[in-house]
Amino acid sequence: MELEIGPAKSINGVLEMPGDKSISHRALIFGSLCEGRVEIKNFLEAGDCLSTLESLRKLGVAIERNGSEVVVYGVGKYGFKQASEAIDVGNSGTTMRILPGLLAAQPYETTLVGDSSLSKRPMNRIIEPLTKMGAKIESREGGLAPLKIIGGELKGIDYTSPVASAQVKSALLLAGLYVDGRTTFHEKYQSRDHTERMLKYLGADIEINGTSYTIDGNSQLAARPITIPGDISSAAFFIIAALLLDSDLKIKNVGVNKTRTGVLEVLRKSGANIELYEETLNNNEPVADLHIQSSKLAPITITAEDVPLLVDEIPILAVAATQLDGTSVISGAEELRVKETNRLEAISSQLKIMGANIEEKKDGLIIKGPTKLSGATLDSGGDHRMAMSLAIAALVAEGKTVIRGAESIDISLPGFKDLLQTVAS
Ligand code: S3P
Repeated sequence: MELEIGPAKSINGVLEMPGDKSISHRALIFGSLCEGRVEIKNFLEAGDCLSTLESLRKLGVAIERNGSEVVVYGVGKYGFKQASEAIDVGNSGTTMRILPGLLAAQPYETTLVGDSSLSKRPMNRIIEPLTKMGAKIESREGGLAPLKIIGGELKGIDYTSPVASAQVKSALLLAGLYVDGRTTFHEKYQSRDHTERMLKYLGADIEINGTSYTIDGNSQLAARPITIPGDISSAAFFIIAALLLDSDLKIKNVGVNKTRTGVLEVLRKSGANIELYEETLNNNEPVADLHIQSSKLAPITITAEDVPLLVDEIPILAVAATQLDGTSVISGAEELRVKETNRLEAISSQLKIMGANIEEKKDGLIIKGPTKLSGATLDSGGDHRMAMSLAIAALVAEGKTVIRGAESIDISLPGFKDLLQTVAS
């Protein structure tokens, strides 16, 4: 599908974001592990989360869904059934990397397959630690999906991950729930902590010491309702559009967990006028309303330590950088090469077509601005965040832009076009 989009002058109004993608996955997975009924509100009805939902159904979990309201009938740690066939998780890296933590402990085999993009993404990061815990996992050459997970009895380990990844951390903590004893995971930089927060909320015995996390295998999870905050990664597209154009925008009910607000920190440091109000805590997750007004921004700098806190926002931050007066530098971001596309290559090649001054480095990007971008025919490469980042670039460009592969937007934000139409003029 192609998305045709022209320039806009301003972004005004009030928006509400659909539920956070990461937390929606976790609500389904950890909800399934509870004994009893878990009511989920504001679940993200998008491709990736529906992949997790269907996967759990195939493992014998009863799940009712009425739009964004979901009820999971948790089966407890030992109630999962063997799937009758391979489970297709589509484009969802989070499903492919977290579910094996659960499957590794089941007394049967499960095969997970993904689409062509997911089948190129590295899985050794979960295969290695889960194998150390005692699981057998078969993959294609080089640790690529499909994965055949031959479950069995697991033992606790003390593991230092070479990548700061919430997906890897979550897989290990999940497997750690099945161990007689404790499992510890260390990461170099803090990655998003939704799993730890949800495990605590549901009553698990989890200890956190800086970037080290220990779970006790005797933990039981108690069914409790979960309301999912709006997705800050989706909000980022509208926040940046509002900052660059003549705007006054409010976004209600956005998750503002510190391990996800790296994008707000970087923008504020460069002069962005973003106010948080009505801050509350929903099932252990901070939530707030945001007020964004157009601002004159200085160039941005992002280093390795910042990356996990804004890993999904780098393409849209690169779009912003093309409009800032000076040189923006993004480094320590090689992880972007193994996302849904090689996002360093993808964003620099597409923004170059629009006339941006952007240089691709091994681990980042150097962007000189400001450049008046020109509308063009662009390719998202089937990557949802690329498609939406390019759509925001189109708003600040001259002339019409056509984005190919825009159906990918449904992976994380099916309502993107309508939300944009509500506020852009
Ligand atoms: C996610 C973690 C991040 C992020 C992805 C969702 C999660 O990946 O990029 O979109 O829900 O745990 P990594 O854990 O690989 O950094």
